[in-house]
Amino acid sequence: MFVSCIFITLICGLLSTANATHILVIAPPFLSHMIPSLELAKQLSSYCHVTFLTSIYRINEFERKGFISDLNSSKTLDIVGLVDGNNHFPGLTIEESQISSNNTAQIAFDNDQRILFNEVLVRMGKALHHLFQTDLQSSVRLPIDMIIARSFVPLSFLNASIPIHLFLPSNLRGVINYMRSQHTDKTGQLKEAYDYVRENIHQANGFICNSLKEFDGKYVEEFYQSSGNLAPIRFIGPLVFNNEQSRMTSQTRNIIDWLDKQPIGSVIYIAFGSIANLPTNVIDSVACALKHHSFIWSLKTKSALPPSLHNLDSDHQLIVDWAPQRAILSHISVAFFFSHGGWNSLLESMIHGKVLLVWPFFADQFDNALQVVDMGVGRQVSYNLTDDIQHMLLNGSYAKRAKEVQELVIDARENTSKKQILDIVRLISKNQHEYDEL
Ligand SMILES: *[C@@H]1O[C@H](CO)[C@@H](O)[C@H](O)[C@H]1NC(C)=O
Ligand SMILES: *[C@@H]1O[C@H](CO)[C@@H](O)[C@H](O)[C@H]1NC(C)=O
Ligand SMILES: *[C@@H]1O[C@H](CO)[C@@H](O)[C@H](O)[C@H]1NC(C)=O
Ligand SMILES: *[C@@H]1O[C@H](CO)[C@@H](O)[C@H](O)[C@H]1NC(C)=O
Ligand SMILES: *[C@@H]1O[C@H](CO)[C@@H](O)[C@H](O)[C@H]1NC(C)=O
Ligand SMILES: *[C@@H]1O[C@H](CO)[C@@H](O)[C@H](O)[C@H]1NC(C)=O
Repeated sequence: MFVSCIFITLICGLLSTANATHILVIAPPFLSHMIPSLELAKQLSSYCHVTFLTSIYRINEFERKGFISDLNSSKTLDIVGLVDGNNHFPGLTIEESQISSNNTAQIAFDNDQRILFNEVLVRMGKALHHLFQTDLQSSVRLPIDMIIARSFVPLSFLNASIPIHLFLPSNLRGVINYMRSQHTDKTGQLKEAYDYVRENIHQANGFICNSLKEFDGKYVEEFYQSSGNLAPIRFIGPLVFNNEQSRMTSQTRNIIDWLDKQPIGSVIYIAFGSIANLPTNVIDSVACALKHHSFIWSLKTKSALPPSLHNLDSDHQLIVDWAPQRAILSHISVAFFFSHGGWNSLLESMIHGKVLLVWPFFADQFDNALQVVDMGVGRQVSYNLTDDIQHMLLNGSYAKRAKEVQELVIDARENTSKKQILDIVRLISKNQHEYDEL
């Protein structure tokens, strides 16, 4: 039974001024949510004090992957680990039977996968509840002026007096569909998860969306209709992990050297995300379509590579078990990015002005793919991957649009989104004039 095992590590930062404005950012232990949440926490910490709270079991992994190494010197960002019992966190394995042969059907999560997701959240809720009921001040700076959390983080332990802003790590279109899906879930296996979402949306004083107004403005009305909460939505995208200063590892160096030898715009970059272990039939169909092309494929398999990937032309075809995505996406040899459509990946692609081919598998990836199509920066896979790849390499219309979108995204990062982030801090600041000259 989980009761007394809460303890906390303070990895970095100790408080600067005693009564600085303080925001608590709570992230659920899913990497694709932790990454933009941490980036949001970092940006907020330029203007106020921030505590980033997430499962302690994921913090080590986060450190190992280099996401927090540059934060050790920050005086305004504390990273706090919650011992929530989420220490066995299996990767999401997708079975062959879950992927339909026509490539376009959304994966229906099976009972085990749904229960697993729900349980992670329930455990997190118990731990948060316990933390807030007991010795909060020994691990988290007080007072807390605002809490920013993902909509399904259980927040029922909270005192009503602390304003809550919900963080939407992808685009509004996906959120709207997610809210609709609650009404169709009849299994009850995600009961708590949906309860948390409903309650949080009801309580929220604001929404913070990791997208751009230019992309999502047209969904605001619909979002308000389906959420029933008219609190302000602030668009602060693109939150992408940025560690320009970090030193280049030899693995990255080798990949860049390899890319340097390839002709401009010749290489297809393939990465289907960190969660799903893809079944062999998917790998085979992609391998077959890539047979006569140059590519770099970030692919982790549970066992040896399938036979379809045995006879590669190593001068032009490279498989890596880890890829420095930003370095690859910014390389001129890369023609386009063949992605699963995770929003973080799509934003990184847009920032680098790259064209996209998207094979969505589950959750908001389908909405994200539609977003890519609407924006004109790429297409979703059809029933014929060979054809798709040919189309991507020959059709110049996407590249032109991708450059325009790149400008929008960079401008948002440097200008509008920065201003929105400062506005969030201003909302709760005790010394309004402190921010006047910024
Ligand atoms: C941060 O600093 C602490 C204490 O100095 C050290 O133990 C830890 O390894 C550092 N972490 C990183 C990622 O550098
Ligand atoms: C694709 O497969 C799914 C599931 O097998 C099916 O429901 C859907 O109708 C199929 N779509 C087309 C266009 O064949
Ligand atoms: C929440 O309210 C209770 C009772 O009023 C109080 O004891 C506790 O300190 C409050 N917690 C926070 C985090 O403000
Ligand atoms: C895919 O498209 C190509 C080119 O249009 C065509 O030659 C091939 O027969 C198609 N493959 C399938 C399985 O339909
Ligand atoms: C290129 O793609 C765009 C968008 O899908 C499409 O409208 C256009 O017809 C394509 N052009 C060619 C030459 O295939
Ligand atoms: C940010 O805005 C300023 C002033 O409007 C403009 O000069 C600058 O080019 C913008 N930055 C980017 C990256 O677009």
